[in-house]
Amino acid sequence: MSKHQPSGVLQWLSLFLLMSLFGVSHGDVGTAAQYSPPYLPTACYGNNPAQFPSSNLFGAAGEGVWDNGASCGRQYLVRCISASVPNTCIPGETIQIRIVDRAETSLSRPSRNGATIVLSTTAFSTIANASANSINIEYSHYSSSMSKHQPSGVLQWLSLFLLMSLFGLSRGDVGTAAQYSPPYLPTACYGNNPAQFPSSNLFGAAGEGVWDNGASCGRQYLVRCISAAVPNTCIPGETIQIRIVDRAETSLSRPSRNGATIVLSTTAFSTIANASANSINIEYSQ
Ligand SMILES: *[C@@H]1O[C@H](CO)[C@@H](O)[C@H](O)[C@H]1NC(C)=O
Ligand SMILES: *[C@@H]1O[C@H](CO)[C@@H](O)[C@H](O)[C@H]1NC(C)=O
Repeated sequence: MSKHQPSGVLQWLSLFLLMSLFGVSHGDVGTAAQYSPPYLPTACYGNNPAQFPSSNLFGAAGEGVWDNGASCGRQYLVRCISASVPNTCIPGETIQIRIVDRAETSLSRPSRNGATIVLSTTAFSTIANASANSINIEYSHYSSSMSKHQPSGVLQWLSLFLLMSLFGLSRGDVGTAAQYSPPYLPTACYGNNPAQFPSSNLFGAAGEGVWDNGASCGRQYLVRCISAAVPNTCIPGETIQIRIVDRAETSLSRPSRNGATIVLSTTAFSTIANASANSINIEYSQ
């Protein structure tokens, strides 16, 4: 943001417009506990077994989120940011969960009372050490329903355009991802330095459209699998944050497919998709 100081007022105006029109609430901080089966009945949908996403990424709303039941069915992006025991968070993991219950009345009791959101065991263990009772999270309401707000469409696009041009945010570009396996060294970005890889092993090599003459080295991307040639290849609800450390065109180990937008490490690829796939369609944003 500091690159664009003169337009600070416009930035905030556009952010405000965007948040009010899209209902995006960015990065609230709270706590998450976990709860285990039995999950039925729930305060939202009773005994209906179809209420649970196939990913098993769901949760129960704490009183601050419950919103008198309006939170039922809402999707949240949730990321572990810290915990009382170091290394509890699994780095680079963001999940998308669905609210199906109210923590205060859930049949199975949360691992800690008063949490902002109580996560299913699958959800909790995807972002943190499953032994923890409580973690600190960043969460945001995920609303993909732009079409709900038709009347203000022009303002939406205006604010999105303002935001994208002022912040340099690129939201949800669509492309393809291949995968590549070790050896990963040397890389076009950092040579033989072993410290270049994040401890999560979530990294990748930039395709020519992303490479940007080497300026992409070290950039972080959020990547989500959206589809693939074989049905059920994507792992639902998984978004990873990867770091660019190499250029796909010159990587020592060759990508599973040429021409991909981003080539993911085996760990990164298998976190969002079936590891047997050669190529998937992704949504990615810096
Ligand atoms: C999870 O936490 C427990 C208790 O603190 C610890 O014994 C275990 O090693 C941790 N597991 C991982 C994978 O870090
Ligand atoms: C992954 O894909 C392979 C090949 O299409 C298939 O045999 C396998 O069952 C899939 N694995 C999972 C966990 O879906």
